[in-house]
Amino acid sequence: METQAVALRPSLHSSVPCIQIPENHLVSVLPKIRTPTRLSLRIHYSSSHTLLSKRNIQCRNSVEIMDRQGVSDVEEEKPKPKLRRKNLAVFVSGGGSNFRSIYEATLNGSVHGDVVVLVASKHDCGGAEYARDKGIPVVVFPRRKDGQDVLSAEDLVITLRSYKVDFILLAGYLKLIPVQLVQAYPKSILNIHPSLLPAFGGKGYYGMKVHKAVIASGARYSGPTIHYVDEQYDTGRILAQRVVPVLANDTAEELAARVLHEVFHSYWEHKLYIEVVAALCEERITWREDGVPLIRSKEDPNDLF
Ligand code: GRF
Repeated sequence: METQAVALRPSLHSSVPCIQIPENHLVSVLPKIRTPTRLSLRIHYSSSHTLLSKRNIQCRNSVEIMDRQGVSDVEEEKPKPKLRRKNLAVFVSGGGSNFRSIYEATLNGSVHGDVVVLVASKHDCGGAEYARDKGIPVVVFPRRKDGQDVLSAEDLVITLRSYKVDFILLAGYLKLIPVQLVQAYPKSILNIHPSLLPAFGGKGYYGMKVHKAVIASGARYSGPTIHYVDEQYDTGRILAQRVVPVLANDTAEELAARVLHEVFHSYWEHKLYIEVVAALCEERITWREDGVPLIRSKEDPNDLF
């Protein structure tokens, strides 16, 4: 059957225009129609001015392929497999404001995961107290230096495995991560650092020391970096950054507050960490050939940043 034109006319009172498909093209790809997701169409097969047949079809953001007998195979968009919620371990040494905001994001649905254990370098730091208050198990690592009750790096790995931890998030954890842990969790440990790495990072750059060094250098911009963790301090692959200005009369405290809290009424570090952890839990991290990790946008999967 020689078909010269196929007219697709939306039914009902839709504003979608009639689509003419050129001669002999029996495969039509409709533009993405998001709302409503289901659209009824009436198809007229015609040869010159003679109507050969009519069919009613329904499609759902799909591609309809028709053979010459008018039989159609609908290639439906395959439903995406449901993502498993990820188990998160957060490591802290201090007040844990990043930990708190991540925890809240797991409760309010922004992050598709759960904080299943908190690892603290100090038994009574603010982050550990907060976790106990919320019923989150707390593990102290490394344990007391008096030789008693020492949790080895191997024990820590076993403990995290017992909680079925998928990802480890360092949020103000000041100790070096043992190599056993780095090897046990490849591409699965993130840290947030309060400067634009690779500047002002490495051993000794923590807390106010970072911000003092930024101001002393005369740098006009700073901001948080989220990076993967390797065996050294602050040298793992960079995953995300945000920029904040360093103002002429900034003190270290003012700059720290701007990086952590107060840019455009958002919590800059917190916001960035939540965005990144959301991407991690939704499996939207992809690795460029040269080993640089990138985040796939939720709205447009082709958009990498
Ligand atoms: C943050 O500035 C983070 O960048 C750094 O340590 C600080 C932790 O702050 N790694 P908090 O304990 O989350 O409030």
